[in-house]
Amino acid sequence: MSIKLHFNNNHAVVEPGSFLHEYAEKFGIHVPTSCNRQGKCKECLVEINEGMELLSEPAPQEMHLFNKSGIVVMGCGLAARTYV
Ligand code: FES
Repeated sequence: MSIKLHFNNNHAVVEPGSFLHEYAEKFGIHVPTSCNRQGKCKECLVEINEGMELLSEPAPQEMHLFNKSGIVVMGCGLAARTYV
């Protein structure tokens, strides 16, 4: 199953199985990190406009993105912790 991925103004059809930061780097988009993608610095926070259902379940490092009812506060994820 291929997935259409859009990063800013970059578009590509990709095969699933990689983290969002890996796709971003393929587009030449620098994803900041000071924790070496361990989910600690939160610098790789990305806004997800569509397709949340195609992404991995939230990692423990992403739980700050949910409110007390378990609803995601914004369509966001950590590029280093979210895979397609
Ligand atoms: S790179 Fe540090 S949390 Fe994403």
